[in-house]
Amino acid sequence: MSLPTPNASPAANSSLAVHVRGVSKTFGTGEAAVAALKGVDFDARQGELLMIVGPSGCGKTTLLSVIAGTLNFEGGELDVFGAKLHQMKPRAITEFRKRNVGFIFQAFNLIPTLSCIENVCVPLLINGVSRRVAERKAAALLEQVGLGTRGNERPLNLSGGQQQRVAIARALVHEPRLVICDEPTSALDKDTGGHIMDLLRDVARHPDRCVIVVTHDSRVFQYADRLTEMEDGRVQRVHDRSGHFDEEGGLK
Ligand SMILES: Nc1ncnc2c1ncn2[C@@H]1O[C@H](COP(=O)(O)OP(=O)(O)O)[C@@H](O)[C@H]1O
Ligand SMILES: [Mg+2]
Repeated sequence: MSLPTPNASPAANSSLAVHVRGVSKTFGTGEAAVAALKGVDFDARQGELLMIVGPSGCGKTTLLSVIAGTLNFEGGELDVFGAKLHQMKPRAITEFRKRNVGFIFQAFNLIPTLSCIENVCVPLLINGVSRRVAERKAAALLEQVGLGTRGNERPLNLSGGQQQRVAIARALVHEPRLVICDEPTSALDKDTGGHIMDLLRDVARHPDRCVIVVTHDSRVFQYADRLTEMEDGRVQRVHDRSGHFDEEGGLK
């Protein structure tokens, strides 16, 4: 009889939301091949807002896409709230993502033929929520991001910053455990960006949820529990709030 090994799986440590070990991703083949992730190790805890910073092209968006289950990868382990995505079939990953992940893309990815409220409804409708309930929740979320009066408009009638806020409402509406954001405040002025970060902070206060934010925007570092620096396809350093942030919340 074999005894169970303590902590045999990283998921056994219930405080981890995301656990990435030795994950690689190469785009293209032969001479055109680009190694975007080079055996990256990365952790995010439950109940935290974790920021990822690093120079353009270092693999931030690629890492977010892998964690969200939207991009396949070579080798390594990826554990998200106990689900071992590296062992799961594509259909199971899609099902997992639908329920558990909210993704704010750099390019918003709103559906141009749908109104704002219909866009925000999508994650609820694909999870089987009735249209009536979905519309009520979507309207409440649009209100929270300051777009309560714009629900019936098409996204292209809105400014870049407003479209970004619709995308944020859509990522939060089904209350996913994991919220992943690629530069969520890049098109927003300081006050709106701060308001969006307050919303994301509220999500991260739930002990069984987690928010991961890629950002270039040093004005929002103060909202992070931890900050992960990436460079050339790997995590270089992780800064904890204690000791590594200055009084304004910037990096020392
Ligand atoms: N779909 C793709 N096809 C080819 N190369 C890509 C693709 N996506 C990203 N890359 C390359 O992978 C590297 C990492 O990109 P990315 O993850 O977008 O970086 P970041 O988000 O940090 O700016 C870059 O060299 C980029 O050019
Ligand atoms: Mg990017």
